[in-house]
Amino acid sequence: MGEVTVSDIVQALDRITGGRVVTDVGRVAAGLNPFVVTKSSDLPGKAVTETPGLIHGDPAAKVRTIAMVMTLTESAIELAAATGVDLLVAHHPIADASNSGGVPLRNYLGLYGLAVVELHEAFHGLHPGIAYLHGHAAFRTEVRYGGVPGNIMFVGRRLPEVKTLGDIIDRLDRLMGVQREIEVLEADRRASGCDQIHETSVAARARILVGEPERPVDTVLHVFPHTGFSPEHLDNAVREHPEIDTVIASISRVARDHPLVVRAEELGRAFVVGNSHAVELYENWMPLARCLEELFPNVKILMFKERMFAIPYEACGNDALRRYATRMAEDYLLPRASEGGEQLGRMAT
Ligand SMILES: [Fe+2]
Ligand SMILES: [Fe+2]
Repeated sequence: MGEVTVSDIVQALDRITGGRVVTDVGRVAAGLNPFVVTKSSDLPGKAVTETPGLIHGDPAAKVRTIAMVMTLTESAIELAAATGVDLLVAHHPIADASNSGGVPLRNYLGLYGLAVVELHEAFHGLHPGIAYLHGHAAFRTEVRYGGVPGNIMFVGRRLPEVKTLGDIIDRLDRLMGVQREIEVLEADRRASGCDQIHETSVAARARILVGEPERPVDTVLHVFPHTGFSPEHLDNAVREHPEIDTVIASISRVARDHPLVVRAEELGRAFVVGNSHAVELYENWMPLARCLEELFPNVKILMFKERMFAIPYEACGNDALRRYATRMAEDYLLPRASEGGEQLGRMAT
């Protein structure tokens, strides 16, 4: 194959998704692409419209290196520019300035000559990998359970090698490489001299909330709490499929005292929290990267894997940096805070 262009990649994504990508703006204008969706919490000025396809860049530009990224950030843009990337393929929808460090996308990406594609809802539901990773094969899939759009529910039978709740956890830990993440985290803790550092994929790893590791698994109800799955939905699902013995929640987390977990326990079902959103790069973007690698063997594919750390303030940076922070705070910022405080105090009286 000769040279690959941005347009070639967009066309390939359109084929992979069965025609869900925006390749004809006229169809969008006519409301004919159901995957062009506006996400809004009704917070003024904060809505974003997903437009699967090319967001910024020249369709005719050559592509030698692609970066696969979950959420576009200033770190991703900087890493792309520093590693010779031509095209970023982002999963989550891109909002101007929000996904580009507070500056307009066009200025930032234009400066670095980067093209960017987004592909979110248009990619969902194309493969059964989420169920597979969690150790079951779905025999029923709903995308608007209980009439709630986007309320995804799988009902699945365990895979032969998965027999217990503990097998689900071990499988996820192994596939997500949790042991290596723990080693990296421990190395960072040692290097920083701080054992209070936390990292998402370790802190939010899979765990059993109700049940023992030895408890057998046969039929799984797999839900995504952030999509609106309620305890009433759980009641209905168990009524429709009494053989369900285990509930798995993934992508978003629920705590032990969450109503869904409490209800599952009342119903005598086990409850597992599976993969968090932080490993979606592995769940969804590894399979897509493999497609692009197969279709464009001469293009280099880089996975932009995030590692987010929580570190106590007093352990962040080094002594010199903390002296800098103290000086800026004490000389410039805090005096204004106390002035403001006095003003507020005066206003209150
Ligand atoms: Fe996703
Ligand atoms: Fe996501």
